Amino acid sequence: MKTSKVNIDGKEFEFPMVVGSEGEVGIDISKLRGQLGIITLDNGYGNTGSCQSSITFIDGEKGILRYRGYSIEELAVKSNFIEVSYLLIFGHLPGRKEFEVFMHDLTHHSLIHEDMKKFYEGFPPSAHPMTVLSSMVNSLSAYYPEAEYKDDEYLNIIRLLAKLKTIAAFSYKKSIGQAYVYPQNRLSYCADMLNMMFAVQSTPYEVPKVLEDALDLLLILHADHEQNCSTSTVRMVGSSEANLFASIAAGINALSGALHGGANQRVIQMLKMIQNDGNNYKKYIDMAKDKDSKFKLMGFGHRVYKNFDPRAKILKASTDKVLSELGIKDPLLDIAKKLEEVALKDEFFIEKKLYPNVDFYSGIIYRAMGIPTNMFTVMFALGRLPGWIAQWKETREAPGARIYRPRQIYTGENLRPYVPLEKR
Ligand code: CMC
Repeated sequence: MKTSKVNIDGKEFEFPMVVGSEGEVGIDISKLRGQLGIITLDNGYGNTGSCQSSITFIDGEKGILRYRGYSIEELAVKSNFIEVSYLLIFGHLPGRKEFEVFMHDLTHHSLIHEDMKKFYEGFPPSAHPMTVLSSMVNSLSAYYPEAEYKDDEYLNIIRLLAKLKTIAAFSYKKSIGQAYVYPQNRLSYCADMLNMMFAVQSTPYEVPKVLEDALDLLLILHADHEQNCSTSTVRMVGSSEANLFASIAAGINALSGALHGGANQRVIQMLKMIQNDGNNYKKYIDMAKDKDSKFKLMGFGHRVYKNFDPRAKILKASTDKVLSELGIKDPLLDIAKKLEEVALKDEFFIEKKLYPNVDFYSGIIYRAMGIPTNMFTVMFALGRLPGWIAQWKETREAPGARIYRPRQIYTGENLRPYVPLEKR
């Protein structure tokens, strides 16, 4: 076994090295504090491996993304979201029988308890659908208290995967004041989601194949992305033995932030702002380069990718195809392309290795599909669900699993005497 030596105050200590299956190397410092009484400090965890995982591999320098060893490019073309979900959660591509059972189970658990509909009534019409989504997922723990038991793990995974699209679609219907459309067993997962969002009682609705395929692709591309903010949150919460629904609800909240899943919504808002400002995209590039402006190009940059985000590449090609099949000409797409073209040639973006990320183009496809901007992050959550579940399961099943509990360097006051109120 390889080791690494650390020299502190003239004393040398040896720590084991861990090498992953793709040659990634880490120093195992789990005995560091015990041996030396010191800890490592890593703001934002950019250099910290929180776990060993066999789910997703990313090489950010080369722009590689693989689920369980399969490249995202191949899965995007040859697979479908249900199969990818099975792959992520159970570790292998399903055989025909396994796929049929999984599909059947997912189809037959999509209804939510009728009482849950009352929760929607309690939210103000302006509630963000991500807020509603996380609250509804959290409340599933109350309806399925057996979520605490290992024996029911498969059933709860199925329930969550099957019901999330119903919960998401109902929250959309509520926000626009339309009647809920119930899930249909005859439809595929993606067609069902779109039907629940876009069908209305008064007129027949057939989900266009182009929309069904586009959603399937988007969900595959979002299905997992190793230890990002929301996934680490799911693992963190799950490590305390909180149940699946509670852990995923926490992940949904983490995803909602503007620097994470919330970025897809912000990209469209930014493109609209540029459009309203006479398409002056150069002005916004300059603003992004000026640190004092606090403005960032939304949909650009990534903690891990220092090269093209492979998902953005796939989506860029798909955006043109989907828009042309739908016969849509979106001026925001032209602005996005110009912005990308200018940024990729600009010294600031080149030097900082800032490339378009998955959120840069996903918003334009969602817009073309008729999905409202405030639902974009909900669609991201729907895609990310199998990844969260797989990571939650892996945390619980890891040999020697422990509750996640980071340390800190305290920088506050030293011991001081309490001052009574009248003397302060
Ligand atoms: N526009 C302008 N400058 C940027 C941008 C941007 N979009 N992103 C990073 N930078 C600068 C940043 O100011 C910093 O400069 P300096 O070295 O002078 O301090 C440098 O590039 C490195 O960036 P960082 O903020 O230290 O990088 P990070 O790894 O902490 O943050 C990020 C990654 C994705 C949060 C960030 O790039 C960002 O805020 N991007 C915009 C929001 C976005 O698109 N988020 C979606 C991420 S992809 C989907 C997902 O996984 O959720």
